[in-house]
Amino acid sequence: MATINTHYDKLTAGYLFPEISRRTRTFLEANPGVEVMRLGIGNTTEPLSPTIVKALHQSVDKLADVATYTGYADGSEGEVALREALAKRYSQYGVSLDVSEIFVSDGAKPDSANIQSIFGVDNVVAVQDPAYPVYVDTNVIAGRTGTAVDGQYEGIVYMPCTEENGFFPDVPKQKVDLMYICSPNNPTGVVATKSQLEALVEYARANKAVIIFDAAYAAYISDPALPRSIYEVEGAKTCAIEINSFSKDTGFTGVRLGWTIVPNDLVVENTEPGRVNALWGRRQNTMFNGASNIVQGGAMGVFTEAGAKECADMVAYYMLNAQRIREVLDKIGLKVFGGTHAPFLWMRAPNEMSSWDFFDKLLSEAHVVGTPGSGFGPGGEGYFRLSAFGHHEDVEHAVQSIEQNLTL
Ligand code: MLT
Repeated sequence: MATINTHYDKLTAGYLFPEISRRTRTFLEANPGVEVMRLGIGNTTEPLSPTIVKALHQSVDKLADVATYTGYADGSEGEVALREALAKRYSQYGVSLDVSEIFVSDGAKPDSANIQSIFGVDNVVAVQDPAYPVYVDTNVIAGRTGTAVDGQYEGIVYMPCTEENGFFPDVPKQKVDLMYICSPNNPTGVVATKSQLEALVEYARANKAVIIFDAAYAAYISDPALPRSIYEVEGAKTCAIEINSFSKDTGFTGVRLGWTIVPNDLVVENTEPGRVNALWGRRQNTMFNGASNIVQGGAMGVFTEAGAKECADMVAYYMLNAQRIREVLDKIGLKVFGGTHAPFLWMRAPNEMSSWDFFDKLLSEAHVVGTPGSGFGPGGEGYFRLSAFGHHEDVEHAVQSIEQNLTL
């Protein structure tokens, strides 16, 4: 008789965003005709820029001609031209990468979910608390944890990110094997400084741990002194994997494209250099046939002068929203963090309210949907996230409603 993977039974709730949608639907059913404004999920809203659209069209046209048609690629790693363009981008941050270290994929979410599969099931996993739920849930499903007690899974090391430590974790006191770090951070919107990353790299090297560095929001960093890649820290190539995405600056949330860097220098217990890189290649070639050739061609537009400028404009567009949300939250006296180098704002729920209670209050009074901090782990309880993705006029509408209708 077939059986199911019972590790799924340990997952504490539905995945966060479907749960928010469910609650929003219930509210709308009870309040027909009410217009709800969404500052919840970090989903892009602005159209693809002209240069990207042109590159996508050219990619489609190639498939319409027998002389330029391509089917499966030779491997799943991605087109060499795209990987070379990415390597060139990293060289602008002073990071030198070989093309063989870059694996193009269908997005940062699947990569951050799948990367754990190349590590032993007995690896001890550490996460920032709060954290993007994918890191924890995929390790639960893989069987690396016990059940959840008071919101924390047995076997996972939670690294508290609090107001006191500026929402960046201290290095773990115990020995861990895999550490998930996200900067600029989802959900807190806070970005790590170089010295903070240096401390993590030092810990990882001393403990032979691997940092899984999610840099999906790196394009939102506007201060050149802040690292856009963990490899800007010396020694990081021996202990870190980096994951990134075209979703948030190119607008590819629905188009799907990302990449993961597994340096050849990365070593773990009982492996020689290149082995972890080869393992990720093996995993991808077994379970993935490569990102869409149309999409990879479209992404080449990002690396033209016009495309780069249009993507930077898209980031600036969303950051104007972040600035406006922050302005209003400050004005009404809420305590707000993030939103200066990231498209997320993190705030303390007023009057010691729980995150979900504040979700209900914001929805019923201001008709605005946000994301309860507790959905990102126990450390997020009492906090709330607002996303800066949205059309300017919708965000303006939402913040005016917050200012006028939210009772504090
Ligand atoms: C979020 O709102 O946290 C993001 O949209 C999640 C994602 O990009 O998968």
